[in-house]
Amino acid sequence: MKTVIYNIGTLAGILPEGVLKLEGSGMNHVECLHDAFLVIEDGVISEFGSGNGPASTADEWIDAKGGFLMPCFCDSHTHIVYAGCRDGEFRDKIAGLSYEEIAARGGGILNSADLLHETSEDELYRQSMERVQEIMSMGTGAVEIKSGYGLTVEDELKMLRVIKRIKETAPLTVKANFLGAHAVGRAYRGRQSEYVDLVCDEMLPRVAQEGLADYVDVFCDEGFFTVEDTSRILSRAAEYGIQPKIHANELGVSGGVQVGVRHGALSVDHLEKTTDAEIEALRGSVTMPTMLPGCSFFLGLPYGNAKGYIEAGLPVALASDYNPGSSPSGNMRFVMALGCIKMRLTPEQSFNACTINSAYAMGVSDTLGSITVGKKANLIITKPIPSLAYIPYSYQTPIIERVIF
Ligand code: NIG
Ligand code: FE
Repeated sequence: MKTVIYNIGTLAGILPEGVLKLEGSGMNHVECLHDAFLVIEDGVISEFGSGNGPASTADEWIDAKGGFLMPCFCDSHTHIVYAGCRDGEFRDKIAGLSYEEIAARGGGILNSADLLHETSEDELYRQSMERVQEIMSMGTGAVEIKSGYGLTVEDELKMLRVIKRIKETAPLTVKANFLGAHAVGRAYRGRQSEYVDLVCDEMLPRVAQEGLADYVDVFCDEGFFTVEDTSRILSRAAEYGIQPKIHANELGVSGGVQVGVRHGALSVDHLEKTTDAEIEALRGSVTMPTMLPGCSFFLGLPYGNAKGYIEAGLPVALASDYNPGSSPSGNMRFVMALGCIKMRLTPEQSFNACTINSAYAMGVSDTLGSITVGKKANLIITKPIPSLAYIPYSYQTPIIERVIF
């Protein structure tokens, strides 16, 4: 199958083969080609250039009508498999309760775990696929999905099987992350260490045996799991060859970044609360600092210091954190806009954070995240727009014309 996309106003996000992430001042630029064409063969970008394209035959011709053609967004941190919603807690939050206070009252993640327990696997798949369709329509071409609303062996496996089914049935690229240590399950209240035993000795072996997880996650933060808990879980996961991508420094300076880096985490995510020590720990590591401005927006938390990280020469990725408690939106264009408006990233930096760097943060930047010959053609065509900056600037205007998988 050969498709030619012609009449492209601006082809944006071109990178040479082999670039897996951009860091420091490397994030300041987005390579573009104006008045261009692009050829897709069997789902892969095979050629692009200036002009109207090769005068050869194709099975399909797509007129981009002068719009932008860009790589799909990669959303490297989500919890989109969940049951129901938490609109009641939204009221509590407006009334003044903090995320931690809601959790301490037995709500929050445990509330979602109760709902998930009562929901069948088929129904969970149905509800989650609605969200998958929603994010695809908004330009997301790759998504990482976490478990963590099960918190029992059977319910964690149920979630991971739903993620596997999404992987098999949805056209976008999916990575599964096992987050058994998202909160201490209700039956283990007051027995955190025994719950960590359950994660290590019962959940992880089953998850590994069934091949259900690409990554392992821990909510390493104040009031949740400690650095010691995290270290135990990540060491155990390493025995099964499962790399970490963890939650760190959302609620406090938790030591989560350092423990993640020590265990070779692919990413450490949130980072609303960090100091220079975290920047130093990340230097020279394989770990992608990933910030989730949708969570800061929804919970009223400080925004991560993305600009400081980039000025220190580090890479930064942005992701949505789509979940029912702290970020009930998976709109990556809004995330890109928050990157600019609230974190003061340039449109180019924010674009790179939401494409190539977020692709790296979920282990797919060899096949996604840029316009590169040989990469998967998960692409966005926009209406004709004046500039790259217009994408985050006009953050509510429906400029996405078509999404190609
Ligand atoms: O990334 N911080 C931990 N986990 C999620 C929130 C989960 C929830 O509240 O349901 C997050 O923000
Ligand atoms: Fe999260």
